[in-house]
Amino acid sequence: MVTTPLRTTKSEEIFTAAKKLMPGGVSSPVRAFKSVGGQPIVFDRVLGSHIWDIDSNEYIDYVGTWGPAICGHAHPEVISALKAALDNGTSFGAPCVLENVLAEMVIEAVPSIEMVRFVNSGTEACMSVLRLMRAFTGRDKIIKFEGCYHGHADMFLVKAGSGVATLGLPDSPGVPKSVTGNTLTAPYNDLEAVKKLFAENPGEIAGIILEPIVGNSGFIVPDAGFLEGLRLLTQENDALLVFDEVMTGFRIAYGGAQERFEVTPDLTTLGKIIGGGLPVGAYGGRRDIMAMVAPAGPMYQAGTLSGNPLAMTAGIKTLELLQKPGTYEYLDNITKRLSDGLLQIAQETGHEVCGGQVSGMFGLFFTSGPVHNYEDAKKSDLTKFSRFHRGMLEHGIYLAPSQFEAGFTSIAHTDADIDKTLAAAKEVMSNL
Ligand SMILES: Cc1ncc(COP(=O)(O)O)c(C=O)c1O
Repeated sequence: MVTTPLRTTKSEEIFTAAKKLMPGGVSSPVRAFKSVGGQPIVFDRVLGSHIWDIDSNEYIDYVGTWGPAICGHAHPEVISALKAALDNGTSFGAPCVLENVLAEMVIEAVPSIEMVRFVNSGTEACMSVLRLMRAFTGRDKIIKFEGCYHGHADMFLVKAGSGVATLGLPDSPGVPKSVTGNTLTAPYNDLEAVKKLFAENPGEIAGIILEPIVGNSGFIVPDAGFLEGLRLLTQENDALLVFDEVMTGFRIAYGGAQERFEVTPDLTTLGKIIGGGLPVGAYGGRRDIMAMVAPAGPMYQAGTLSGNPLAMTAGIKTLELLQKPGTYEYLDNITKRLSDGLLQIAQETGHEVCGGQVSGMFGLFFTSGPVHNYEDAKKSDLTKFSRFHRGMLEHGIYLAPSQFEAGFTSIAHTDADIDKTLAAAKEVMSNL
């Protein structure tokens, strides 16, 4: 376990060099710690629920490479399956039986998915599903929710969450108004606002896309009846309902949030866990809609590395591991201990917080709450969060470096990990 202060000499050296080589020194913005301040740590290796940085500090990890590491990092069975697959080559660019195996597993697991197309990232899955929504309905407008993140494609960079929220970027330069003009937005959990948008744009809305549990403005759950209400509204307006389960798929339940909430969308996007730590995304849904996708139908979408054997192998092995009885009970129990413990410690130490968890996903806001949407989330005391984040880091606990990101646990997290985390939180919160 790390004791303060952290050794950071090598991290600082490498990150300083990285800043000269790559914008902001990173390959993806939130990693740069801009919203929490201080130097990011540079990772050296990961195993199970733990990570080690380049200065040999050890941490308990609650980021899990932003969700994929649900079985713990570098699970030995995933690694040995990958080693075996490697001997057959890294990419075929042609049909391979592993695609069938993972497709069957996804179709069997996720209630809405009758056919699936593999891509290489969550962003790619979401931008492709949007094209499909438009192709199928012949309509251009879509509804998304404030603070929901669906990857970095132009038409989604409107009131987006994740790094866009973290860096306080409401939009991005370079995104033409003509592209975002068809993206309508509503506050999360606000059915009336959605009704109004349908009324104001009759026959023009292709559908609604949302995170069925939000993880990109911090952790926000849908109010009772919200998902059901969206299902009804889309049906009444001949529009499609799309769940972006890039984060929640195979995490909230084996069949995703749609299994847990018993609301079946028309289309679903996936990513993260189905790649088992390798780059994968997917979109799928009703057979009649998926039949529009090339080469079965006219909607074009393609990918050189899509369905590549290594990514398929890591995904298959990860899903096999998740199928073991008790997986989701374990995730739920361990994450509840963590979340309840954090809330209790905050209360005992006199901090206004709110938060919660579902399965292996959790969040904590520094505001009394309740948090139903992004506007509520923004009331969180970000300075306090930054101090909390740094304090936890110095105690060997690696949390997402932004208030506007959910936390993740894995089946590799142990009661001992939770005990250590809560002990650290007690010390840090007492001195905030
Ligand atoms: C809900 C959701 N959709 C889409 C994406 C984009 O996925 P990727 O980063 O793999 O492009 C993310 C990424 O965090 C996400 O959380």
